[in-house]
Amino acid sequence: MRRKIVAGNWKMNTTPAEGKALIGELLSKIADVPAGVEVIVSTPFTHLVPAAEQLSGSRIALSAQNCANKESGAYTGEISAKMVAATGAQYVILGHSERREYYGETDAILLEKTKLALENGLAPIFCIGEKLEERESNIHFDVVKTQIEAVVCQLSSEELSKVVLAYEPVWAIGTGKTATSEQAQEMHAYIRSVLAVKFGKQAEEVAILYGGSAKPGNAPELFSQPDVDGGLIGGASLVADDFIAIAKSF
Ligand code: PGA
Repeated sequence: MRRKIVAGNWKMNTTPAEGKALIGELLSKIADVPAGVEVIVSTPFTHLVPAAEQLSGSRIALSAQNCANKESGAYTGEISAKMVAATGAQYVILGHSERREYYGETDAILLEKTKLALENGLAPIFCIGEKLEERESNIHFDVVKTQIEAVVCQLSSEELSKVVLAYEPVWAIGTGKTATSEQAQEMHAYIRSVLAVKFGKQAEEVAILYGGSAKPGNAPELFSQPDVDGGLIGGASLVADDFIAIAKSF
């Protein structure tokens, strides 16, 4: 049995006070979520220390949304994997399409970040996915394969065992346009086949989340697909009732 995971990606939303209130609401409703479902919230950096304290002893895990590709030193404005781990966060989202697109994060940079995250005891939630024009030109499988081979296939199998993957078609993120459950299943099965070339049977154990306009209304069908192991939730993770409803959708 693979892990079932629902992770909320708050992106650049909420003040620390608003984040504290949202976590409070999630904690008050988390008992409704079946015990086998892992729930993660990914807050802005500024919220990590108090969020770790607020979540301590609960079943909700904490994630950052990024970390630096350098260990330490003169990199003004950056936050290292070691610093993130010291906050008490257990996960870090890496390779999100917004980081790739707006902040020029290449596969080479993402491999450095992924290695540093793992060395510092953080579990990467590693995102991959094609843009609309890539799907329309029918190169979406190649794009995703390249993203996986450049980073995930560079890891050892022990490192892979810490990684969660998230397939997020860029055309579905924040657009209200969800991939159909067939499109998601097709790509998730393909991702597993790419992993299997290097990792063999271990590919069956990797949790692959779907992300992109997932909502309480479409999560049950998405999560019912055999290779969809949960979701990375943006907009809907900012509303406690919606996020909890999604986590109950398995
Ligand atoms: P969305 O974002 O759910 O708002 O589409 C998903 C993500 O970018 O992780």
